[in-house]
Order: sequence, then structure tokens, then C-alpha cells
Amino acid sequence: MAVTNVQEPALQHLLEHARQAAQNSYSPYSHFRVGAALKLNSGEVVTGANVENVSYGLTICAERCALVRAVALFGPDIRIQAVAVANLNDAPSPPCGACRQVLAEFIEPEAPVLFSAADGLRCMPFSDLLPLAFDMKLK
Ligand code: THU
Repeated sequence: MAVTNVQEPALQHLLEHARQAAQNSYSPYSHFRVGAALKLNSGEVVTGANVENVSYGLTICAERCALVRAVALFGPDIRIQAVAVANLNDAPSPPCGACRQVLAEFIEPEAPVLFSAADGLRCMPFSDLLPLAFDMKLK
């Protein structure tokens, strides 16, 4: 799914999954409720929500929650074809830097990533969000 048009029905569908997932956010500290939805190459959609912790630093973002769920459910060969991130706070929420690096492990570089930005919904290829991702190229 290499399109980056925010109106693309498949992306809007993924965004709806992300919004639904945000309903399950555990965010008593920030009250910032985030959901993420990953479309896998198998066609499966896997969602996640942010899960906060009283120690703050152990908080798990919605994107990483979705990613570890996807691997646990479907195994280490998954490839992510598209991502949508939503929040229920009517605020911008592009994936944080840590989540970008973690997604880089399993995502196609051209995969569209849909998120809300200050100027509204944005969609861009993953490689534009994280150019030059760290990669040891040992393979
Ligand atoms: N958060 C995410 O879920 N995804 C991101 O990419 C950035 C931030 C969460 C973490 C925390 O629970 C809340 O948003 C406020 O930072």
C-alpha cells in the first residue's frame, strides 16, 4: 500500500481501527489517549494503545504496543504495509522517535504512515519519517 493520500479508503479504515484502539488507552498520568493500527502484508490489522506507568519512563507507546502484539500473534516474519496513529485529544501525534526506530525493524520503507499533525491529517512514506534509520546491516 504505497499511496500517501489521506483520503484513501484503506487508510481511513486503518485510522478508524486506530481510533477504536485509543479507547483502550491506559493513560492516567498524561490523559493523552493514543491508538495505533498496523496493516500487515498478510492483510491482518493489529492495534495497540499506549499503556502508561507510574514511573513514567516505562510507558509503552501505542505504536510499539501494536508492533509487539503483531510479532507475538503472527511471528517474526511480519512486514508492515501501512500504519495509522490516532489520539482522542484532538492533538497532533506523529509517532515518536523511539517508535520510528522500532517500526523500522518490520516496516516497508514506502509504507504510508497516517497521523494527525498541527495542520491536520498527514500521511507520508515511512522512509520520509525516519531517513537513515540505524541499521547494522549484518545480514
Ligand atoms: N505516546 C504514544 O502512544 N505514541 C507516541 O508516538 C508518542 C507518545 C504516548 C505516550 C504517553 O502515554 C502519552 O502519549 C504522552 O506522551
